[in-house]
Amino acid sequence: MAEKPIGVGLIGCGDIAPTHAKALAEAEGARLVACMDVAEASAKSLGEEFDAAHTTSTEELLADPEVELVTIATPAFTHDEITEAAAKAGKHVLCEKPLAADLPGADSMIANCEQAGVSLSTCFPLRYLGAAKWLKGLAEAGALGEIIEIRLRNMGEKKESYWTGGFSGRTQTNWRKSRAQSGGGVIITNLIHHIDLARAVTGLEVTRAFCEAGTFCTSVEVEDLGLASLRYENEAIGLVEGSSCFWGGSGEHDVAVLGTKGQVRFGLWSGQAEAYVTEAAEGIPAREWVSREFTDATHVDFYNDLAAALRARRRPPVTGIDGRKALEVVLAIYRSADTSRPVHLPL
Ligand SMILES: NC(=O)c1ccc[n+]([C@@H]2O[C@H](COP(=O)([O-])OP(=O)(O)OC[C@H]3O[C@@H](n4cnc5c(N)ncnc54)[C@H](O)[C@@H]3O)[C@@H](O)[C@H]2O)c1
Repeated sequence: MAEKPIGVGLIGCGDIAPTHAKALAEAEGARLVACMDVAEASAKSLGEEFDAAHTTSTEELLADPEVELVTIATPAFTHDEITEAAAKAGKHVLCEKPLAADLPGADSMIANCEQAGVSLSTCFPLRYLGAAKWLKGLAEAGALGEIIEIRLRNMGEKKESYWTGGFSGRTQTNWRKSRAQSGGGVIITNLIHHIDLARAVTGLEVTRAFCEAGTFCTSVEVEDLGLASLRYENEAIGLVEGSSCFWGGSGEHDVAVLGTKGQVRFGLWSGQAEAYVTEAAEGIPAREWVSREFTDATHVDFYNDLAAALRARRRPPVTGIDGRKALEVVLAIYRSADTSRPVHLPL
């Protein structure tokens, strides 16, 4: 008999919430049971659309015995407090990125979940891109040789309305503009995904960061343009480039990994990836570009994988520690931008 899907309570019904609700409607391993938001209209509309209970009370959601996993989709500065309440109520936690706005926040989330004996996972669904899995397989099989360069780009355009309503305008808030509440701009908001993806596919940790960043076009506290160079533990060099005022740009959200024997590159949303190797390996001929196409359902795959791990009482596929590691790289990048000096990790 198929196992009962994990019951999910969604806290935060703003911009990203429908992505979770839609994925849960498709996932076999998990289903949306209830949703909660301090803004009643946001909770109500999501609950009604996805046939789930809705409330403005965290206590009420956490008291629901059908809720086994709490997905936190609120601003970064609230993640710690909500995680603590969820863990004390005996619920597993899946937290949106960034795990927290600072490392003490992330540490307290990890400690609270450990103490309560519940799992903590970070929402990094890009690991489930077909292109990312192909790259990981090639890197692990040695087809690329030693990794020497990792390029991560997120060049996008965020309109004025984004800063108070996200892309959908579901809830009006001000946290995105505030560095204390959001943790930062395009680097922590977007490039943290790429940074985690690079770590997941190569297994390499960052040891040093240097960054130039600024706020050029937007009336917010956080950076709208940043460029960082990274050094990885094997001496590979990394480039992180992000903008939220890349006017007219489209599709410049990509990852490229270069090794001593080949490279892989892909756009995050293109569903396509290309590889080139100097010695035939893993079904790829030598010295010929090969491309692959993928149909992605990253959030659905993420939930199914997480649910299977929770049912089997295994560690989640993406942990709280993973969320902390990516956050630490981002904070090193910001510290470098603030001090105009290279910053060594661990912080
Ligand atoms: N994984 C992704 O691709 C992705 C994309 C966008 C946002 N995010 C992350 O998801 C989180 C939410 O982002 P968003 O864009 O949906 O923000 P949002 O402001 O649109 O929505 C957040 C919602 O949380 C509610 N809220 C605030 N404090 C609360 C609290 N204490 N208890 C309950 N509800 C509360 C707000 O009323 C709002 O409706 C952020 O951490 C963000 O970085 C992730």
